[in-house]
This record gives sequence, structure tokens and C-alpha cells, in this order.
Amino acid sequence: MLKFNVLTLFPEMFNGFKEESIIKRAIDDKKIKIDITNLRDYSSLKHNQVDDTPYGGGSGMVLMCDPVFKAVDDLKKKNTKIIMMTPQGETFNQKKAEELSKEKEILIICGHYEGFDERIRSIVDEEISIGDYVLTGGELPSMVLMDSVSRLVDGVIDEGSRTNDSFSEDLLDYPTFTKPREYRGMKVPEVLLSGDHKKIDKWRKEEAIKKTREKRPDLIKPVFRKEIGDYAIYDYQGVSKAKDIKLDGAYEFNPKRRELFTVNKVLLLDPKFIKKIAKKSLEKKLKALFDQIDIVLNDESDDEAGSFVLGEIDRIQSLIISYYSKYLEDEYLALLLFKLDALKSEVAMKEMKKIDVVNYDKNRRRR
Ligand SMILES: C[S@@+](CC[C@H](N)C(=O)[O-])C[C@H]1O[C@@H](n2cnc3c(N)ncnc32)[C@H](O)[C@@H]1O
Repeated sequence: MLKFNVLTLFPEMFNGFKEESIIKRAIDDKKIKIDITNLRDYSSLKHNQVDDTPYGGGSGMVLMCDPVFKAVDDLKKKNTKIIMMTPQGETFNQKKAEELSKEKEILIICGHYEGFDERIRSIVDEEISIGDYVLTGGELPSMVLMDSVSRLVDGVIDEGSRTNDSFSEDLLDYPTFTKPREYRGMKVPEVLLSGDHKKIDKWRKEEAIKKTREKRPDLIKPVFRKEIGDYAIYDYQGVSKAKDIKLDGAYEFNPKRRELFTVNKVLLLDPKFIKKIAKKSLEKKLKALFDQIDIVLNDESDDEAGSFVLGEIDRIQSLIISYYSKYLEDEYLALLLFKLDALKSEVAMKEMKKIDVVNYDKNRRRR
């Protein structure tokens, strides 16, 4: 059973919420429990005062520390999660609701008027907002939270009816229809009447992706989704490269169909391993480059090898900066770039020495 306790100045606002529909049934079935505590019961001031004017001036009243601290001291047990409803908190979503549905006991503090004395934040585990707008009090937000969390508590609603809920897999729910088959010229899609459940599942999945793309593209992230037997990878917002799924270049592909495609095997590499591979590949390139530099520096011939090696040093330097640098320690990177600069100067000097300055004009005229 998940127990909620709500600390509020307006306990009666919760009457309808607790006494209707699924929440009432969940309470009756002892799947959840909702206690409402009047914050004024913890006031030690005249007229049960719980708020006062803000220091520094300004409008509105601020909830005082004392009644809230006392209430929390009294109601908090070992496993109680303390949540403050505030527009300044982390924005509530389905993932948070799922996380909270695993708790044993949640104490929710509702603010009112101007909000809370800032010091109250020190005793809460989480600050939650239900969206970027400001309500008059935390009561409605706390009901929003309790409602969405409660329906995820085991046994509160039929599991099947929530597995495809919007947001449960970063997707909106698929379109649903009920009787009649045709209404004002609008027909129910044929596939839903076909009785072919494999086809229906496929249609629903594709429609959910389509709907999410159209209505909430912001929800769509590249994710791996396990399918029966193998893995499916959804290509969201045109991002189709596994490179964008933390594999960082280790594994890339472009799907033929953009919405949904299936692969037989997915190789997930530990980033440490990718670092090792990158370092090995750089070492190979450096070894080849240093061999070429050695030949140029120890060779007396005046062929084109020098200018070719200068070009190679430039190329490897840009490659290191644009790609390999993220896998290298700062000190090593600086030393390597410095060494390549020094070698470049050496090769350039050698090239300069080859130029016959004394006979330069004569040679030029002859050419
Ligand atoms: C008028 S609001 C105070 C807003 C406060 N001055 C601020 O801007 O942060 C009063 C109370 O309503 C609740 N509240 C208002 N909007 C909320 C939201 N979007 N999410 C969660 N709680 C909210 C909070 O408990 C808040 O303390």
C-alpha cells in the first residue's frame, strides 16, 4: 500500500478527490491511503497563525518554518519521501509518477499565498512542479501528483490499460475508437475490425509513432526498444544513427524505413573500450607518420617527400584536434601537438636547407 499524507491549509479541498471513482476504489481496496493534515494544527501562535509578511518587504504572506518543520518532524517516518509542491521544482512527468509509485510513504507539502520560507526547502527530498504556470496553492498540484501516481500502484487499475498510456515509452497513446463503426461519415480503420491481432498491434505501434512525431516531436529520442526475439530501433526525428545513442561512432547505420526497423543484433560498446580503440588507431597513424618524418630528416635527396610529410603532419594534427582529442588526456594531447609542431619546424628547416640560395637566380632563369 502507498500512503500519502498531505500537509495543507485547505483540507476540505480534498473531499471530492478522495470520494470519487478510481481513487475512492483504491482507498477502499487498501491499495492507497490518503491522509490530509491541517498545517494550522502545528501552529503555536495565536489564531493558529502559519504565515507572515516577507522580510525585505513585498506583497503577500509567506509560510513560516515552525509549523512546517514541526509537522514534518511529527509525520515523517523512516521511509517517508517528502515532496514540496512548487512551481520552482522539477517538472512532473510520467517517469516521475512511475518512480514515486514504488515509494511506501509520501508526505506532500502544499504552499499557498506567496510560497514558503526558503529554509523549508532544507527538509524536503524533492521539489515538484506540475508545469510552468502558477496556481494559487499546492492543493491541485498535489492531487494531480497523487492521481497519476495512484493509478500506477499495483492493482489500482488493470495493468493492460496502462501499458500503452501516453508517455509510458516516450510515445503518445495510439488512436482508439468505439461503437459505432461509422459516425458522421468518419469510419473506424478497417484493420481494427479485422480480428488480426498481429496486424492490429503493428498498426497501433506505427500510429503511436506517427502521432508522437506530429504532436509531440520533443518527446522523441532515439531509443532501443526490445522486441520479441530481437531489437527494434526507432528512428526518431530523422536521427537514425546509432552514433547518437551513446555509441559515439562505434556503430553506424541508416535505416531504409524511417519509422521502424529491426536489427538482429545490437552491439553496445563500453565507452572505455571505444577510447582504447581510438588510442590504438591514433598510435598506428602516428607510427606511420614518424617513420615518414625519419626518412625525410635522414635523407639527403631533394624529392617531394618533405612537402608531402609537412602536409601529412597538418592532416594528422587536425584529425587529433577534431576527433581524437576527446579520448586523450589533456597533458598527453598538449605534448603530442607540441611535438608535431617541433617536427614540422624541423622538416620545414630541412626543406629550406635544400634551397640553393646562392644560385637561386641563375637556376630560376634557367627554368
Ligand atoms: C502562488 S504560488 C507561489 C508561487 C511563488 N511565489 C513562486 O513564484 O515560486 C503558491 C503555492 O502554490 C503551489 N503551486 C503553484 N503553482 C504550482 C505549480 N506549477 N506546481 C506545483 N505547485 C504549485 C505551490 O505550493 C506554491 O507555494
